[in-house]
Amino acid sequence: MRFLIRLLGALWLATLLVSGGFAWYEVHQERTRQAEDLQRRAALAADAVREASERLVARGVRNGYERVLTRFGRQDRAIAIYDAYGSVLEASPEVKRSLGPISPLVTEAIQKNQPTRAFAVVNGRTRLVHAVPLQQDDKSIGAAAVLLDAEYLEAGEWDLWQRTAVRFGVLMLLVTGITWVVVRWSVTQPMTRIAEWTRLLKSGQPVAPPPQADASLFGSLATEVTSLARTLARARLAAAEEARLRLVGDSLWTEERLKQFVEIRFGARPIYVVSNREPVSHEQEGRSIVEMRPASGLVTALEPIMLACGGVWVAHGSGTADRVVGERIGLPVDDPAYTLRRVWITEQEEAGYYYGFANEGLWPLCHIVHERPQFRADDWEQYKGVNARFAGTLLEEMEKAESPIVLAQDYHFALLPQLVKQARPDARVAIFWHIPWPNFEAFGICPWQEEILLGLLGADLVGFHTQFHCNNFLETVERTIEGRVDWENFTVVRGQHRTWVRPFPISVAPDDAVERVADRAALRAELGITTEWLGVGVERVDYTKGLPERFRALRRFFERWPEYRRRVTFVQIASLSRSRIPRYRALQDEVREAVRSINEELGDRGWQPILYRERHHDHSEIRRYYRAADFCMVTSLHDGMNLVAKEYVAAQSDDDGALILSRFTGASRELRDAYIVNPYDVEDMAAAIRDVVTADPLERHSRMRRMRDHVREYNIYGWAGLLAAELARIPQPSLERG
Ligand code: F6P
Repeated sequence: MRFLIRLLGALWLATLLVSGGFAWYEVHQERTRQAEDLQRRAALAADAVREASERLVARGVRNGYERVLTRFGRQDRAIAIYDAYGSVLEASPEVKRSLGPISPLVTEAIQKNQPTRAFAVVNGRTRLVHAVPLQQDDKSIGAAAVLLDAEYLEAGEWDLWQRTAVRFGVLMLLVTGITWVVVRWSVTQPMTRIAEWTRLLKSGQPVAPPPQADASLFGSLATEVTSLARTLARARLAAAEEARLRLVGDSLWTEERLKQFVEIRFGARPIYVVSNREPVSHEQEGRSIVEMRPASGLVTALEPIMLACGGVWVAHGSGTADRVVGERIGLPVDDPAYTLRRVWITEQEEAGYYYGFANEGLWPLCHIVHERPQFRADDWEQYKGVNARFAGTLLEEMEKAESPIVLAQDYHFALLPQLVKQARPDARVAIFWHIPWPNFEAFGICPWQEEILLGLLGADLVGFHTQFHCNNFLETVERTIEGRVDWENFTVVRGQHRTWVRPFPISVAPDDAVERVADRAALRAELGITTEWLGVGVERVDYTKGLPERFRALRRFFERWPEYRRRVTFVQIASLSRSRIPRYRALQDEVREAVRSINEELGDRGWQPILYRERHHDHSEIRRYYRAADFCMVTSLHDGMNLVAKEYVAAQSDDDGALILSRFTGASRELRDAYIVNPYDVEDMAAAIRDVVTADPLERHSRMRRMRDHVREYNIYGWAGLLAAELARIPQPSLERG
């Protein structure tokens, strides 16, 4: 209240000063204008009276003055005629007896033989007196005075001040009303909500945060308070979960446990993650800049770790507005836990390193999906150059860090471990290969296989999703380069350096939110879905994901079991990826065409078998689809792990839902209760859909519960914890920094 009064007081004062100042100026201007007008009129009248009376005074005739007075005198204009001594010869009756006050003015006009003028009160009224000398042979022989009524000047001024006062009053009322509403709406209510939310959090109730307060109004204060409360909520939940797990003697990995584990194992040694894809890109949309989270399993997996442990994440700044936002930023923006360091690369470098060597060479090489890899010498040069650039940036970031921990990610950075280790032997370097590693023969077609293997073996630890991929890698090393593979310990020894090769099946963060029922109904209503069953698929449009195969299976399902038409709808969330590569563009067309023809041939006005949603969806949107869907299809032709499968399972908080999963994914080795399919076998996949919709609900529940328990237990914190534990176990030779 006191704030409101102070604010209103300031507004009133400002309004008073502005409108008072303007009114004063207006009055002053008006007065000057009217006075000048009066003076002009008085001078004209005085000249006319002078002309008419000059001859009469010169001749000394006593009559004739009345005519002059009658001719020029008016109700608001009195006339007086004087002789050479300043004695009144004749004057208008209303002033005749009261001319005393103007005598000095008239005398001055006669003596100086010049017109004079002044305001004077004559007979109780303010008048402008203009006196002109009457002359004969240029000598003064008397004077004529014209007295114009000036009373209205003051009345007009008063009137103006009165109107100003009314205007000021109305303005005050409006300013007060509007200010009160705005303050209540944008300040008092949001602050009350934040205060109430903070109070509830303090009392330990896990309530959703209020909508973000207007940051432009509160500056960083409201944002800081909000994020502080959020941090507090997270810390409380983590502490409560820890306490609960201690009580039940559970050894589940949590964000908090990972944080403490990393602290114990590595002390203050900072963590550096290197990946091609950045966790957040900034995109220019019209005149504003928006934050985008990429459709990347790698980001889904690593972000919770960075949130838990902090550190620096080095990645390619690929957003259209990244340079505007900055090279080094704290993330998340409203409550920074780690630093994103962006690396800039040219279009030419991106074409060779990312689109070319990484995605037209290594990607099809490692995924056995009958897509011929393209190896171009130019791409290889760019790949080497960009690896060196990232290594340089990383070394710059690590300059002051003692024995830093480096977690390099994926097939984009096969050469980076060696480059970093050579410059910083004290660093612990791990690289995780998120895609499959093929057998020796398949890998052998890569012209630069030795360089790639040597680059990777620069690391202390090389991780894959499965033991199978580790074995493929070790066999490739054994048969390609010089070095000793120790099959007992799964290590490679080259000279003084030993590299450990281990499987770490990647996972997702547990998802324990419970709002499923309402969410499901809302999403179905939004999509206009009325069918009994809703299936979902979430993919980048990539030839490894088996999208055309999936749609063929859906078509076959509706053909073989037509009684399920209008009873099942499938939603495909598709995000476009690597569209500069012709093979990806061709696939995008193929997928759209497949959806179109199925919908045209099988659908009708009230039902479309497939709803195809081709745009970027952020994580919270995708989660709604997971929670609304009765089943999810993952039909990759080859996949290192596939985190969509695990995310879908994690999101089924009521254990209702079924997963159809390709046997060629890493996930199929863990999620054994999924409906495992061969994506190349259309009949098999169609039958799996039928199995799902006809399954006994109890069986479906228990399958999902077992999978969910598994994902909860082997979650992303566990993945990072095991990787960190392995890295910490590796003996560190006491080497000087090179
Ligand atoms: O599977 C390897 C991977 O790097 C994943 O981490 C991620 O889902 C995908 O490829 C992302 O591809 P891109 O960054 O090329 O869009």
